[in-house]
Amino acid sequence: MKTKCSAQDRSDRSPVGVEVAGLSKNYEAQTVLKDISLSVKPGEIFVIMGPSGSGKSVLLRHIAGLEAPTAGTVRVNGLDPTDPATRDRFALALVFQAGALFNSLSVYENLALYPLEHQLCPKPQIRERVMRALKILSLENAAEKFPSELSGGMKKRVAIARALVMEPQILLYDEPTSELDPVMGATITEIIATLKNEYQVTSIVVSHDRDLALTIGDRVAILMKGNLRTICTPDELRRVKDPDIVDFLNPKIDLKNPRYLTLEAS
Ligand SMILES: Nc1ncnc2c1ncn2[C@@H]1O[C@H](COP(=O)(O)OP(=O)(O)OP(=O)(O)O)[C@@H](O)[C@H]1O
Ligand SMILES: [Mg+2]
Repeated sequence: MKTKCSAQDRSDRSPVGVEVAGLSKNYEAQTVLKDISLSVKPGEIFVIMGPSGSGKSVLLRHIAGLEAPTAGTVRVNGLDPTDPATRDRFALALVFQAGALFNSLSVYENLALYPLEHQLCPKPQIRERVMRALKILSLENAAEKFPSELSGGMKKRVAIARALVMEPQILLYDEPTSELDPVMGATITEIIATLKNEYQVTSIVVSHDRDLALTIGDRVAILMKGNLRTICTPDELRRVKDPDIVDFLNPKIDLKNPRYLTLEAS
């Protein structure tokens, strides 16, 4: 994924849209995504919510071009994200669910690794980009630290900073606020909104975080057992009547009919 180098270059890179049509995914006998169709508009924050195991990360990996559909198509900026021939025509970055930082590398080295290996631009400009990304995430003082020396919130910010180094037109986040205290979760949510507003990055956010979805989402998709149940605005989501969605958003603990008795292995 080659991108341009200077700060001003970002301004001439327009945000990109995503089209998913009839996407199904099987892993052997298991169907994980069932005939999913959706479109994400350039520059919007599109939130994907749903219970654990419903296929959110798998859907995100398809949009990132890390997996190929069993059926259907995914297009980013009109192009197949799995096709190496056209992969460098848009700048996409994925913030992984578990951060995926290299423990043996410092924060600086984690951020510089991809641009150095792919020779995206000369070394001094890579340094500029890395330091700029660290500054945006208030991590300038953490550049020489190693992942084991960071808190969970800092790791999440480093993962976002590493994605920013790619100067993306589209940013995919997998659970960016999970495992964080509510204040750090709110901070990351504000960062996602700021990146969208200041850099017009198209943002797709997989999250269980109701506050994030209702506060910064332009639209929210609900995925359940591989089916797309609805796509709606936050206001529509607040008024939704579908009992499964209501239960997902406001689960009540019921000690008389405990849910664990009906858990599936997913
Ligand atoms: N590479 C794979 N091979 C086989 N099965 C997989 C693979 N990746 C995911 N799955 C299965 O697909 C289903 C959906 O997984 P996915 O990771 O998308 O869930 P999720 O909605 O992101 O859940 P969570 O909220 O817990 O992260 C699960 O049953 C999982 O076991
Ligand atoms: Mg997941």
